[in-house]
Amino acid sequence: MKPPGRIGYTPVFVLVFCLCNIVLSDKVHTSIMNRLGNGRNLTIHCQSKDDDLGQQNISDGSEFGWDFSVNVGGTTLFYCDMEWEKVQQYHFDAYSFARDFTRCESQCLWLISTEGMYGLNGQTGYWEFMYYWPN
Ligand SMILES: *[C@@H]1O[C@H](CO)[C@@H](O)[C@H](O)[C@H]1NC(C)=O
Ligand SMILES: *[C@@H]1O[C@H](CO)[C@@H](O)[C@H](O)[C@H]1NC(C)=O
Repeated sequence: MKPPGRIGYTPVFVLVFCLCNIVLSDKVHTSIMNRLGNGRNLTIHCQSKDDDLGQQNISDGSEFGWDFSVNVGGTTLFYCDMEWEKVQQYHFDAYSFARDFTRCESQCLWLISTEGMYGLNGQTGYWEFMYYWPN
């Protein structure tokens, strides 16, 4: 039988690990890539509580990116509204600390396709399908 005592240390380890992440990942790069195809344009407007990145027109095959610091309080949030041919005023979080502090430790990349949005998982290195367009 294994001694059960060791399990008690796990929460402490996780807490220390997470605090280290916050201090180390001082800059996060976020980018939105238009992969809609057929020359389709994408219009996007991203902002946070403190920064308004303005309306951006991203042509097919291009991207728009920015860098920011993650605040120690863990409340960093960049949200965007986007539009393309078939989708109007779609709202999503480009970076949300609660969702992304491990998934996007140093970069939060998005790929916009006609079927939906893919996000790069920085932990696994794989693109994951994240969101379907609304019907
Ligand atoms: C995308 O935008 C460019 C520049 O405004 C325009 O010339 C082009 O026709 C647009 N493409 C489509 C498919 O609407
Ligand atoms: C994007 O396109 C819209 C409409 O075509 C235009 O009004 C706006 O100035 C453009 N924005 C940029 C940043 O080029």
